[in-house]
Amino acid sequence: MPQAVSGFSKLSKEEKIQWIAQTYFHTPEEAEKIFKQYWNQDAKLQQLHDEFIENTITNFYLPMGISPNFNINGTYYSVPMVIEESSVVAAAAKAAKFWSTRGGFKTKVIATEKIGQVHFLFRGSIEKLQPFFDKIKPQLVEDTEPITRNMNKRGGGILDIELRDKSAELAHYFQLHVTFNTKDSMGANFINSCLEQMAKTLCRLAAEEPTFTETEKAITIVMSILSNYVPNCVVRAEVSCPVADLAENLPPGRPGAIVDGHAFAEKFVQAVTIAEIEPFRAVTHNKGIMNGIDAVVLATGNDFRAVEAGIHAYASRNGKYSSLSHAKIENDLFTFWMDVPLALGTVGGLTSLHPLVKLALEILGKPTAQELMQIVAATGLAQNFAALRSLTTTGIQEGHMKMHLNNILNQYQATADERKAIHAHFAEQTVTHASVVELIEQLRK
Ligand code: MEV
Repeated sequence: MPQAVSGFSKLSKEEKIQWIAQTYFHTPEEAEKIFKQYWNQDAKLQQLHDEFIENTITNFYLPMGISPNFNINGTYYSVPMVIEESSVVAAAAKAAKFWSTRGGFKTKVIATEKIGQVHFLFRGSIEKLQPFFDKIKPQLVEDTEPITRNMNKRGGGILDIELRDKSAELAHYFQLHVTFNTKDSMGANFINSCLEQMAKTLCRLAAEEPTFTETEKAITIVMSILSNYVPNCVVRAEVSCPVADLAENLPPGRPGAIVDGHAFAEKFVQAVTIAEIEPFRAVTHNKGIMNGIDAVVLATGNDFRAVEAGIHAYASRNGKYSSLSHAKIENDLFTFWMDVPLALGTVGGLTSLHPLVKLALEILGKPTAQELMQIVAATGLAQNFAALRSLTTTGIQEGHMKMHLNNILNQYQATADERKAIHAHFAEQTVTHASVVELIEQLRK
């Protein structure tokens, strides 16, 4: 059994790989070779990636694909997506094309407010804390001035500070609940720096406050941190068209064409309603939306964990986990829409460091954070539309397994001839993992 290791972080990259290879592999040379195979030949570029995190030993590739033909408020975008799951990019591209001839995606930023909190203990009553807070509020803002100067120049900064009494839920627990506008940056560092400064000011001024007893003067800061729950940083994406226009005239042989717009719209709305009322379905439904959202969030160097956490909290905001998207038919008009909270940045963080992120943002026309919110939301809605369309017509597996076929062929290192024969075979047959493997084995006999 491997032993604990001390000083791992002090080892060179080469030594780290050797230790891992020797400790965990029967053929260390083989493991070492693979780890190094993924190093970039350009040493400077490799160093850049090494320094994104700690204890780096290699790079882990994910494919970057493009979904073209996204008509968003009349502008066409080719959307870069980074994701490991087959058929997601194809589905987004198909939905984008479908809606491009039906009015496109209409998107709108509803609000852009970010939140951070100083969580602290005050061993006294709200009646004593409130007037003190009202008095020191301007100083709390003033002391952050060296941090907020540039953000203020860009039109952002601290919007408000509220004192919140949480002592009924936890003894002596109060909060400074602070709202921010961080313009084109995601703002995590900015917010956390402001909060930590506010915490210091709060403690200093409390210690000097003549109306406080000695116990009240000793405020305990538990922590100062931004919240990834941003219910007031929300974007709406919507598509709509007359139900009759949902019908398609696809070339013969293309499966899954929408033949009857009315019947399709009704079943689609039922599928969305099921996700609204049934949490087991809502989670999978929203997962499909996240396939689109995460892929663009990753491609543009944003924090997909923050986005995931915030969106799922938002999906539960009424006390029950529910669908993010909604659909209706009114006067023969089909409308499908979604509101999602998205705290994104197009400056700072990885956006100016990772060469592929820079290219992704350039493909999107160097968007502002608000524009990126709209592109991301449209991609999520497109993904959801594509999934529901498949689920309510042909079923998901048909298209999915065709895409999956390539992954199986790669796994079995199929030759060009084998690929040709196998693709021809499965043009007419349902793909299953077992049937592909069986055919490969037959061909290799
Ligand atoms: C698969 O990654 C996503 C779907 O399951 C989403 C859905 O069911 O709506 C197809």
